[in-house]
Amino acid sequence: MSAHFPPGFLWGTATSAHQIEGAVREDGRTPSIWDTFSHTPGKTEGGDHADVATDHYHRRTEDVQLIADLGVNAYRFSVSWSRVQPTGRGPAVQRGLDFYRLLVDELLERGVRPMLTLYHWDLPQELENAGGWTSRETSVRFAEYAGIVAEALGDRVELWTTLNEPWCSAFLGYGSGVHAPGRTEPVAALRAAHHLNLAHGLGTQALRAALPARAQVSLSLNPSVVRPRTRSPQDLDAARRIDALANRVFSDPVLKGSYPQDLFEDTARLTDWSFVEPGDLAAINQPLDSLGINYYTPAVVSDGSDAESPRSHAHGASESSPWPGSEQVAFHQPPGEQTEMGWSIDPSGLHDLLMRYTKEAPGMPLMITENGAAYPDKQGDDGVVQDVERIRYLHGHLSAVHRAIADGADVRGYFLWSLMDNFEWAYGYGKRFGIVHVDYPSQTRTPKASAHWYGELARTGILPK
Ligand code: NOJ
Repeated sequence: MSAHFPPGFLWGTATSAHQIEGAVREDGRTPSIWDTFSHTPGKTEGGDHADVATDHYHRRTEDVQLIADLGVNAYRFSVSWSRVQPTGRGPAVQRGLDFYRLLVDELLERGVRPMLTLYHWDLPQELENAGGWTSRETSVRFAEYAGIVAEALGDRVELWTTLNEPWCSAFLGYGSGVHAPGRTEPVAALRAAHHLNLAHGLGTQALRAALPARAQVSLSLNPSVVRPRTRSPQDLDAARRIDALANRVFSDPVLKGSYPQDLFEDTARLTDWSFVEPGDLAAINQPLDSLGINYYTPAVVSDGSDAESPRSHAHGASESSPWPGSEQVAFHQPPGEQTEMGWSIDPSGLHDLLMRYTKEAPGMPLMITENGAAYPDKQGDDGVVQDVERIRYLHGHLSAVHRAIADGADVRGYFLWSLMDNFEWAYGYGKRFGIVHVDYPSQTRTPKASAHWYGELARTGILPK
C-alpha cells in the first residue's frame, strides 16, 4: 500500500551557507574557520575549498526558481555569521543581511517556507582566534548575532534553528580535528559542547525576545543510533558511553536541564566540568517548538580495550578520537549496503530515533532536518543522472518516517540533504549528496531522477509502494 503523509507536512530540501554560497570575500564577509581550515594544506580532500562552491551567492534567484520548480514547499538554509557580522561582534553589515532578506522574499513569493539555521559550522575566524567554542564568550556573541538576524528577518521567517549538529562542531572540530578549526584536544571538545549548548540557550532567549509569538524555535541534532555489537556487559557499556558523548550530552541539558551523571564519571579523569557555571543549565533548558533530527546511518560499537579490536570512526579516519574519555570503544562496519560515504544503509535507525525522542520529549513535534545519501553519480548523454540508488535510499527512509508517524511520532516535516551537490566539508566536492547535479566548471544545475521523484512526493504527499 502506498503511504499517505499528514496534510501540512513540510517537504523540503536543505543546504548550508558555507557549502553553497562561495563569494567568500564579497560585501564585507570575513573568513570563517572553514575558510582557514580548507586553505590549510592536507585538511580537505584534494585541497578543495569553498571559495566558489556552487556560486549560490550570485545565483540566488535561479536557485530559488529551481527549488520552486521541484515542487517542494519548504527550504532549509543557513546564514553565514561572518557575512552578517564580520568580526563576530558589533554592528551588522547591511549587504549581508540583504542577501538573506531577498532569498527569503523570493522563497515566500513562490510559496516555499524558509527554515533558517543560524549556525552551520562556520564560526567567524576572529572568534576562533579568541578561543572559539572553548570560550564561553562565544556563546554570548552567538546570542547577540541571533538577535541581529531575528530583528532583520523576524517579520518574514517563522522557522528558526539555532545550531546544526553541535556534536560535529565540538567533537570533530576540537576532538578528532577532521573539521574546522582542526583542534585535537579532548577537554576542549567537552568545553565546546557545553558552550554550544549555552549558545543554543542564550540564542533561543535572544530569538524569543526579538521574534513575534508565532515564530518557532528549534535545534538540529544528529543523534547517533548506537547499537552494541553483542549483549555482553562490556559492549553494552561501550554503547552507553557513546550514547552519553554523542547524544545525551546535548539532549539532556536541552530537554531536561541537566548533564548525565555517567558522562561526568566517564570523563572525570579529564575534567571536573567546572566550566559549567551556576545558571547555565537553566539557560540551556529553554522550551522548544520542535526538535530537528539529522540521520544518515547507525553506529555499531563494542568494547575495544583488547588491542586486537579494530578502531574506526564513522566520520573519517583520524589519528585523534572524537570520544574524550572513551577512546577505546571500537566502531564496526555493519554488514549490508553502504552509500559512497561508506555509511551503512539502515532506515530502521531513523524509526528508532523518532520513537526515542517521542518518548524522551513527550508532545515535542519532530522535524527531520536532514537525511540523504552520496552516490558516485554519472550523467547520461542527456545530462540526467539516473540515481536509482538514491531514490531507493530515500524511499526506505521515508517509509520508516511514515511507520514512526503511524506508531505515534509527531513528525512535521522532512528536509532532504541536499538540494544540490556541494562542498562536502573535508571530503570536498567528490561526494555528491544533491538531488540536483552541479557541473562545477560551468555551474550548470540539472535535476537528477531523484529530484523528479521527490517533487512528485512533495506535491501529492503520497509515497508510492
Ligand atoms: C551533516 C551536515 O549538517 C551537512 O552539512 C553535511 O553535508 C551532511 N550531514 C552530509 O555529511
